[in-house]
Amino acid sequence: MKFFIDTASLAQIKEAKDLGILDGVTTNPSLMAQEGISGQINIINHYKAICDIVDGDVSAEVISTDFRGMVEEGKRLADLAPNIVVKVPMIKEGIKAISYFTEIGIRTNCTLVFSAGQAILAAKAGATYLSPFIGRIDDLNWDGIGLIAEIAEIYAVQGYDTEILAASIRNSKHIVDAAKAGADVITSPLGPILALLNHPLTDIGLQKFLADHAKAAQNA
Ligand code: E4P
Repeated sequence: MKFFIDTASLAQIKEAKDLGILDGVTTNPSLMAQEGISGQINIINHYKAICDIVDGDVSAEVISTDFRGMVEEGKRLADLAPNIVVKVPMIKEGIKAISYFTEIGIRTNCTLVFSAGQAILAAKAGATYLSPFIGRIDDLNWDGIGLIAEIAEIYAVQGYDTEILAASIRNSKHIVDAAKAGADVITSPLGPILALLNHPLTDIGLQKFLADHAKAAQNA
């Protein structure tokens, strides 16, 4: 399973990259706004800065909601770097745009996915990645991980190539459960990725190893 970081923060992207486990980055307009990035030129420059850090895929989301606007924006974004993936919302115009991008060889990430039916449409349109939002589904007391499992089953039965990118991750258990449910990729904020490191027995065990080593050194 690939690990993407879900942020527009250059510092956090670098921190995840330094772990040696980073396969890519996803952003969205809210994450760009959180970093104070606005205006076409600043947004373009920020995507370039992210692509300078990361070799793997970087999802850059279109703001337009009509076919023509999405195509213009998507082509501009895709021209920035070979690892840009154009992120397109799961709406009628978005599916048209994904089909078009597929035809001309531009890779896409279909975002804001909340149902298996939407997942089938996106795969038919040739989306490279599909982003079901686990956390936002769980927030409504529905079953985000259940949706990942359902889509994984459908994609396997149908032989679809679209990769399932489990998004809207809120905690490290989501990452483990998405892996079990058949996600090809998770995209997560840095916190849940780092939380995968934690176990109290690891801390206790390490303290004992170091204490025993120090004791032996004293007795030598
Ligand atoms: C990523 O591609 C999504 O935009 C993101 O994971 C959404 O996460 P949120 O529900 O925490 O905003």
